[in-house]
Amino acid sequence: MAKFLLLLSLISLTSGFIAHAYEPSPLQDFCVADASNSARINGLICKNPTMVQGADFHFAGLHVAGNTSNAVGSRVTPVTVTQLPGLNTLGISMARVDYAPMGINPPHTHPRASEILTVLEGSLHVGFVTSNPENRLITKTLQKGDVFVFPVGLVHFQRNVGKWNAVAIAALSSQNPGVNTIANVVFGSKPMIDSDSLAKAFQAEKSIVNQLQSTF
Ligand SMILES: *[C@@H]1O[C@H](CO)[C@@H](O)[C@H](O)[C@H]1NC(C)=O
Repeated sequence: MAKFLLLLSLISLTSGFIAHAYEPSPLQDFCVADASNSARINGLICKNPTMVQGADFHFAGLHVAGNTSNAVGSRVTPVTVTQLPGLNTLGISMARVDYAPMGINPPHTHPRASEILTVLEGSLHVGFVTSNPENRLITKTLQKGDVFVFPVGLVHFQRNVGKWNAVAIAALSSQNPGVNTIANVVFGSKPMIDSDSLAKAFQAEKSIVNQLQSTF
């Protein structure tokens, strides 16, 4: 009997771990983030549920195009728990992405989320790269209405291949997906990663590394 109970608890522990690999299932109807609470937990402290209002579950403005006048020609407008406190503990978020003609959303990863993206306007060439050692590039050109998924953690990107502006909406499987833009993480860290290491890692002249570091 004791052995059976142990087995049962092991099974429930294991399946619990799998189900909760990214974000815990809610233990109540909601846990609206209380931005004024300075306590630090994995997630954010819940606001008193009796004080919760419709506004806590609401975000306005995703119809507004992002400003793409920048070096990469794209703009992400995020709707994560930071912008929408009602997302706390729910394991989802979204974003609008605007692309100028030739604009790119540069190679990046989301450490805590898969991403499902749908094109509202224009044409996008999208892709992601599988892990080492294959590093296989998987791509697709998307038209209005097409949907594409970027698996959690993998480096991915989008490029506007149409003549006009493009718009996409992305849904992500975390209230706080995180973004690591490869160029910024590698060449723009503060303080900088030493350029000798980067020159060796990228098998490039140190002058090239220094140039990239000064750009990012
Ligand atoms: C868009 O961003 C550029 C560069 O920062 C700025 O000069 C321009 O005024 C912005 N346009 C709008 C409509 O906000």
